[in-house]
Amino acid sequence: MQITVSVPGKVTLLGEHAVVYGRPALVSAINRRIYIKAESRSDSSIKVLSPDLKLQGLSLKINGGLSDFELEAGERKTQILEPLRYILKAIEVTSGHYGKKSGANIIVQSEMPIGAGLGTSAAISVGTVAAYSVLLGYDIDLNDIARMGHATEVAVQGLASPMDTAITTYGGTLYIKPEGTKPLMERIDMPCNFASVLGYTQREETTSQILKKVKAAKDRNPQVIDLIMDAIGLLVEEARACIKKGDMKSFGSLMNINHGLLDSLGVSTKALNDMVYASRSAGALGSKMTGAGGGGCILALCPDRVREVSLAIRLAGGMPFEVSLSSPGLRIEESSHGH
Ligand code: PMV
Repeated sequence: MQITVSVPGKVTLLGEHAVVYGRPALVSAINRRIYIKAESRSDSSIKVLSPDLKLQGLSLKINGGLSDFELEAGERKTQILEPLRYILKAIEVTSGHYGKKSGANIIVQSEMPIGAGLGTSAAISVGTVAAYSVLLGYDIDLNDIARMGHATEVAVQGLASPMDTAITTYGGTLYIKPEGTKPLMERIDMPCNFASVLGYTQREETTSQILKKVKAAKDRNPQVIDLIMDAIGLLVEEARACIKKGDMKSFGSLMNINHGLLDSLGVSTKALNDMVYASRSAGALGSKMTGAGGGGCILALCPDRVREVSLAIRLAGGMPFEVSLSSPGLRIEESSHGH
């Protein structure tokens, strides 16, 4: 039996970090995807292959207990092993959910940079949960998959909002507000002219490390950081109203304020700020870092200025790429029962 699923990356239009502490966010699935193939094995090992993630035939054995994975990795660098932690945890969570396990080859291919603020950890988690569920003989139930994907992220990172795992599962554009165990979600229709460019620079820190930094800032100055998060939540509400009115100019201004607030949380960098300001000078309606920060990506909203903004990002030292938003969520690409 083998199955290939694909899941989209995402951009947070507004609201990252504050969403971890219960404020709402606006998030959209992008047209770059991760493909996860799961193949049955005759033994009980889990083998992960991904040239894109620099994981070359890593092999893992499940020793009795499901959480007891024996790593036979040659390279043990954090950045390289980070995606592996999500894959293994996703398999453990899925096995635990169904009370069933099986050996598998997991093959990962990515159309976007990993760990760059584009929700790749969520995409890897959700894709692995979905593919492994089918391998174990279960149908895909999107709500179950999103929940297990979120449980995977929480287990690996310690902290995670349900935002990334929801958007990569359901796709489109979502207004999302974490509430108890089930987030409040509303599908948002995007106006057609939301042309955007992403600017990428290498990220040195992982999402988990940056989340810990924000938590430490919040523990040091709880009142101030809470006010900043409240302000981010208000920006999201206003931005949602702007989309409904088709007022992209005001939406862009709200993105700019959101970037300033994220910078005040200490998650932006000089490289990100340079790209943000360069895009604005080149005519973007709004620009901000997107995702956890510490490097990674910025998002520039720039209808009619895509070429100018792309060039400005390049001159500021980043790698520009055009994205379209509101892409489809989790989908099965291929499945077969052959050996
Ligand atoms: O950088 P990414 O793609 O892992 O996005 C993280 C988004 C945060 O809001 C910072 C964390 C979360 O769990 O929502």
